Amino acid sequence: MKLDEFLRLNAPEDLAALTSSIATASLTVWENIPRKSGVLEAVNPSGEVQKAIDVFSNDEFAEAILSTGAAGEVASEEMSDAMKGKGKIGVAMDPLDGSSNVETNNPLGSIFGFYNKPLPCSGRSLVGAVYVTYGNMITLTLTYGKGVHRFAAVKDGPTLGFELTGIDLKLPEKPEVYGVGGAKKDWTPRVRRFVDSLEERGMRIRYCGTFVGDYNQVLARGGIFSYPETTVKPRGKLRVLFETAPMAFINEQAGGYASSGGGSILDVEPDSLSATSPVYIGSAGLVRELESVFSGTG
Ligand code: F6P
Repeated sequence: MKLDEFLRLNAPEDLAALTSSIATASLTVWENIPRKSGVLEAVNPSGEVQKAIDVFSNDEFAEAILSTGAAGEVASEEMSDAMKGKGKIGVAMDPLDGSSNVETNNPLGSIFGFYNKPLPCSGRSLVGAVYVTYGNMITLTLTYGKGVHRFAAVKDGPTLGFELTGIDLKLPEKPEVYGVGGAKKDWTPRVRRFVDSLEERGMRIRYCGTFVGDYNQVLARGGIFSYPETTVKPRGKLRVLFETAPMAFINEQAGGYASSGGGSILDVEPDSLSATSPVYIGSAGLVRELESVFSGTG
């Protein structure tokens, strides 16, 4: 089934319009990664000065989202203030997650949260969320609060289009993998203790350095991803509005749980558009276990 048909049957009209515009823009962003990231500069010295890929992807998505008329505002990791629109939905986005990984060709991603309250607000006001992976496949994973569904970009005649590849995705029972960001020397003692316990039970480390890519494998294999509290960043690195809350919403719809260390990420009230929080996201049992280790009851 094609994405647009799925959206027509399953999504509220405004969220369908937003998702469809994001899907189209994501393909343009992907096509432009080599040119706009400077990868071609070495062999194309007389070419025009390239716009940074972050700015390019921000502008592409913002324009696509505002053109639907469904967004009341668009906030982005790349902009200090939100752009205003005429609709009702507050869209928060990380237009190119992990862009420092462009040169190494690790997966990149884009994250979108659809909120029904003025931004900033907590993840309890999310009515939908989408993430795109640019890896060996371009996939688009979405929820509107009724399960998690996935699409992959496939060639349809001369152009790419998204086709349904997964319905009602759930984290597997048995957790297999984990990935933790930051430098180990900066982790707090309780984070180290918990990670040691993951290693002791034979879980395998998997870390690519892009939140979307690291979370995506947790959804497929079961386990936990964290950008934890550290001694240098007690409030973590990842942003609540653009990154952790939308992914927590998707993860809960897939049967998982995401914590800030002291409760659900969805309850974190960001005090600014760019507020951060530690994040521990993945299989519900493991994340609950971390919370009890942190509270001294586990
Ligand atoms: O927020 C940007 C980001 O690239 C995330 O996608 C990723 O999880 C994190 O930073 C990686 O940070 P570090 O390089 O400190 O492990």
